Amino acid sequence: MAITSPLPLFVLGSGTDPDTERGVECPGELPPASDPGLVERARRAKEKLGDRVFILGHHYQRDEVIQFADVTGDSFKLARDAAARPGAEYIVFCGVHFMAESADILTGPDQRVILPDLAAGCSMADMARLAQVEDAWDVLADAGVAEKTVPVTYMNSSADIKAFCGRNGGVVCTSSNAKRVLEWAYQQGEKVFFLPDQHLGRNTAVLQLGYELDDCVVYDPRQPNGGLTRQQLRDAKVILWRGHCSVHGRFTPEAVDEARARIPGVQVLVHPECQHEVVLKADLIGSTEFIIQTIEAAEPGTKWVIGTELNLVQRLAKNHPELEISFLERIVCYCATMNRIDLPHLVQSLENLVEGRVVNQIEVDPDTERSAKQALQRMLDLPGDSARD
Ligand code: 13P
Ligand code: SF4
Repeated sequence: MAITSPLPLFVLGSGTDPDTERGVECPGELPPASDPGLVERARRAKEKLGDRVFILGHHYQRDEVIQFADVTGDSFKLARDAAARPGAEYIVFCGVHFMAESADILTGPDQRVILPDLAAGCSMADMARLAQVEDAWDVLADAGVAEKTVPVTYMNSSADIKAFCGRNGGVVCTSSNAKRVLEWAYQQGEKVFFLPDQHLGRNTAVLQLGYELDDCVVYDPRQPNGGLTRQQLRDAKVILWRGHCSVHGRFTPEAVDEARARIPGVQVLVHPECQHEVVLKADLIGSTEFIIQTIEAAEPGTKWVIGTELNLVQRLAKNHPELEISFLERIVCYCATMNRIDLPHLVQSLENLVEGRVVNQIEVDPDTERSAKQALQRMLDLPGDSARD
């Protein structure tokens, strides 16, 4: 069969094939793996590989996958955990494509990074393509602002966007250290060009650094010159790329009002990838790790509504029966691409490794890797506790 896509995607089941399309529809619960022997097969393969394999699990992964993770974390913690395991021959990344790329950049040349399903991408990362970003930089140069501007990309971006930032004096940030990274960026230049999540950029600049909403403009790559005049670019302090997370971007301010009316005394806890209007109505805002720490430290009997990925919210609710935890919005569901990593794909990766075959390796080319590493290293070198807030 001819491959027309640049990614060797797994062939999807046609129609509604429950064995290959588990979880495509969202009844609020993920169906169990179709083969009850998969747990035992994963356990056996992992045991055979021993210390040669290190499995990383992002907090948004399914429980069936998380149970096999050696460490769990948000994207920042997992990047550091991967870098701190030089002895592991294989890093199996249960997360999405950009996270596996970052792990490949931060690990040694002999270590292989594996993404169990190559179709586990990220819609937000896909909203900023290198050619579009380079065109935008030319627009900034024509307006006379590029040399005063520091590009900052969220971890949730492709390796070539991180490399673009590395080449242009820029840096990577995550949702846990965005404030600190932006403070650094404003010490280097007058403006920040923030990629690809407009919401994280706006929420951090306005709510944590004290800029006004009027200091921010949105660069739309589908409009000529980003839909902005030269004067708008010159006046702006924050140039936000028009990208968003297709999970967090769907929570609405009305859902916060509705939760407060439904659950008296509830505290609303949301991720900064949510829209500004949602964040303004929340009680607490923070990264995935912040959300987990807040729940772990919560007083028994307190009530929480959480606006982040559903796998994590369900796991927090299950692990904390002493709290009343619910999900912020009925129309939002699991992250579809995170959920592509399931037990069948994990077993396939591990059993192939046992047989000496590396499938679904993520390899960043050396030039991209060099520049992307500069941008990542600038973040990791920032002073403070792990460069977190
Ligand atoms: P963090 O892991 O940095 O909180 O990012 C959230 C996210 O959307 C990951 O895809
Ligand atoms: Fe991308 Fe959002 Fe899914 Fe994270 S939750 S992988 S940012 S689409």
